[in-house]
Amino acid sequence: GQNKNNIVAINKEHKPWPYPTLLRYEEFYKHQKILSSKNYLFYCDADMLFVSKIGDEILGERVATIHPGFLGGRGTPETRQISTAFISPQEEMEYYAGGFNGGTSKEFLTMSKIISKNINIDLGNNIIALWHDESHLNRYFVDHNPTIILSPSYCYPENWKLPYKKRL
Ligand code: GAL
Repeated sequence: GQNKNNIVAINKEHKPWPYPTLLRYEEFYKHQKILSSKNYLFYCDADMLFVSKIGDEILGERVATIHPGFLGGRGTPETRQISTAFISPQEEMEYYAGGFNGGTSKEFLTMSKIISKNINIDLGNNIIALWHDESHLNRYFVDHNPTIILSPSYCYPENWKLPYKKRL
């Protein structure tokens, strides 16, 4: 909706880098009461812009976006076994971007709970995964395959030239 009355702002305490990104799933889970009243939940980076129509093609249980930098490759998963985000070279994977993802509110909140639990285990062991929350998101999607995989259209870096329509 275009109605500004549809917007609910939830303030959060500022923390130094990388905690604002790392603890995003904890933040979502903390607000599960208000978030679970919606059918679907999507996360989108604050510096992204919607430049083409995005419609119901993105609606699914678990929705991931292929990272524009690592199409068809394994990307930059966490490779240290001590982290709960560890992905072994033997495991099949595709590298997804942290910047846009979502799903049904039930699935998204379950994902938020598991990822924040894993991140807190890591913090207890003095570990921050290589690409913070994105590393954990990728671990999660190895264990719980996305039901919709969006192309880099939905995470298109402004000045790049990719063979995809610019949507986000
Ligand atoms: C970069 C991106 C980071 C992270 C990284 C993963 O291009 O800016 O946010 O996704 O790739 O290797």
